[in-house]
Amino acid sequence: MPAGKALDLAQAGPLVGYDVMVHGTNDYEDIKDSDMVVVTSGLARKPGMSREDLLKKNAEIIKSVTENIVKYAPNAYILMVANPLDLMTYHAAQVSGFPKNRVFGQAGVLDSTRFRTFVAMELNVSMADVQAMVLGGHGDTMVPLPQYTTVGGIPITQLIPKDRIEEIAQRTRMGGGEIVKLLKTGSAYYAPAMASVQMVEAVLLDRKRVIPASAFATGQYGIEDLYIGLPIVLGANGVEKILEIDLGDEGLKSLQKSAATYKEHLKELGY
Ligand code: 2OP
Repeated sequence: MPAGKALDLAQAGPLVGYDVMVHGTNDYEDIKDSDMVVVTSGLARKPGMSREDLLKKNAEIIKSVTENIVKYAPNAYILMVANPLDLMTYHAAQVSGFPKNRVFGQAGVLDSTRFRTFVAMELNVSMADVQAMVLGGHGDTMVPLPQYTTVGGIPITQLIPKDRIEEIAQRTRMGGGEIVKLLKTGSAYYAPAMASVQMVEAVLLDRKRVIPASAFATGQYGIEDLYIGLPIVLGANGVEKILEIDLGDEGLKSLQKSAATYKEHLKELGY
């Protein structure tokens, strides 16, 4: 399958105008000395499977993938995309033993782009002018921050009524599930892929992007020893900085509540 996808992508090159050689493989050895590895492996829940079953199953998969990254690409940066995102990022960091700045997870960019899209749809304005920040875990407890969500620099709190903002925030929290429901099989693909591209470019081109991503907290926002969505600077050194900003009482409480949930889940993985 990867070989087929790669050939298809390569054959689009002459039309789109790129000339990178795309190579698909089932052999871990082919990632040898990669600068960066994006991990998307993992199962979606099957009928009869509990969330815990899925967590354990995906943890096994991520363990084996991570061990092979360590073996073949020991200096790589790891970008985790597999779910449950924040837990799998923590797991990969532990299994690899890599410095924590070199292991990070993707979901904040995806969750923020969903929030941006919904705000643009609501106001009938260009998506290009909407900025947003969504922190916390990639799940029901994620924390959209309306005070840091702007349209042409104007906070949405001045443009959209409070209760409507909450509805849009809730749609964002459930954004992945909405797509799964529409697709019937499989989950979102294009937006997660573009979010990953943005993060890969930030590292490989040292762009120092200011974005939300799953990063290792060492006391910021009162959170410790946990991967969770935080505002970071992403550049050639991976997570170069975790920004500590004023989230307001409500935002801080929601972030800490999200963190507490993931702390509990980590115990199920034996951490
Ligand atoms: C998403 O949010 C399923 O996590 C994936 O689309």
